[in-house]
Amino acid sequence: MKAESKYDVCIIGGCGHVGLPLGMCLAREGLRVTAFDINKQQVELVNSGRMPFKEEGGEELLSKVLAEKKFTATSDPSMISVSMNIILVMGTPVTSHLYPAYPEFFASVRQYLPFFCDGQLLVLRSTVYPGVTEKVAQMTREHGLDVDVVFCPERISQGEAIRELYELPQIVSALSPSGMKRVRQLFSVFNDDFVELSPMEAEFAKLFTNTWRYIRFAVANQFYMIANSSDLDFYKIYEAITHNYPRIKDMPKAGFAAGPCLFKDTLQLAALTGNTFFLGHSALLVNEGLPDYIVQRLKLRCNLQEKVVGILGMSFKRDSDDHRESLAYKLKNILAKDCREVLTSDPFIRDNDILPVSEVIARSDILILGAPHTVYADLEFGGKEVIDIWDFYGKGALI
Ligand SMILES: NC(=O)c1ccc[n+]([C@@H]2O[C@H](COP(=O)([O-])OP(=O)(O)OC[C@H]3O[C@@H](n4cnc5c(N)ncnc54)[C@H](O)[C@@H]3O)[C@@H](O)[C@H]2O)c1
Repeated sequence: MKAESKYDVCIIGGCGHVGLPLGMCLAREGLRVTAFDINKQQVELVNSGRMPFKEEGGEELLSKVLAEKKFTATSDPSMISVSMNIILVMGTPVTSHLYPAYPEFFASVRQYLPFFCDGQLLVLRSTVYPGVTEKVAQMTREHGLDVDVVFCPERISQGEAIRELYELPQIVSALSPSGMKRVRQLFSVFNDDFVELSPMEAEFAKLFTNTWRYIRFAVANQFYMIANSSDLDFYKIYEAITHNYPRIKDMPKAGFAAGPCLFKDTLQLAALTGNTFFLGHSALLVNEGLPDYIVQRLKLRCNLQEKVVGILGMSFKRDSDDHRESLAYKLKNILAKDCREVLTSDPFIRDNDILPVSEVIARSDILILGAPHTVYADLEFGGKEVIDIWDFYGKGALI
């Protein structure tokens, strides 16, 4: 069966944080795109012109590509059959045993194989464990399909995809020359900066990228805790060592390092090493230990059981509405047992516990910055203590 080309591109997982901006940008460049997603609510929202999450320039672009009839969302998997190029960008989480959830991923791929057609290009865009591209290609062959399978990892920073898709080079990898030619052609609508690797090399490249960032954040967090435990303000030292000294200028500040990618991709790499990735596991202990460290330090200074603690910012990073794996929630969880009451606020997140920022400030004895949102810059705290491990307010971070 040959694909009838009703669409140039079908994105599986097309209403998610990676799939949706990618689909909208491909549509802006004139391709006919359908975003297939099992989340029906999300599909409806997208088709009605509303973004399911915060994305710089997202609402405008969505309205434009919907109006031009270049883009549509669907929960019908048969749209795969009528598309020339399929981009697969479903989540690739780790399980509760902190191991990549392969069975679910392969089951999803297998479920869609009956909709594939000879001659299609299948682009894996999710961050995958090394060897997965080859395995998916094998699955297509065993299903009797003649499909070009390629891996082209997404490297945008969440929320900034619409700009970064045009700015970042694409790492492209394929199992055949025709696959390479086709994936380059598909992504050439954004720019012509390509780096070619083998699929295994590209799979490593993406995991190394995220793990590198995770470890860098862990170094800063560990330094912060070492300095702070010696009753020194880390930022006084940080400013000194980064001042006009190029070799350390790019050292990150301390802060919660979490979210849907860095943690689980470090664990994907750890799984590959048979759990001998000491640096990765150490980074995990450091980054995941930071909320607990803050609470322990507060306990040394006061009877926390008598205090109301307010957390400002619950998303996993600044100016984001994404709370997946956010350490602010881990902090909330720890505080729930360790203080009198814990209150939370965030301008971008809706959950049953979120309160207006003014109420949290008014009712709390101690405030902890959970995410340094730009809108928090001008808040007045009426002399109340604010724990600020980012040094967002420029007053140091000594606890
Ligand atoms: N979020 C990022 O900034 C980022 C950046 C680079 C790479 N990645 C990688 O991209 C992948 C997707 O991440 P995300 O943040 O977009 O996840 P997401 O959860 O926001 O999006 C995934 C989408 O896939 C849909 N989905 C799940 N199972 C499906 C199925 N069987 N069929 C069809 N649709 C299905 C979900 O409903 C969701 O809308 C992951 O591998 C992630 O590591 C993410």
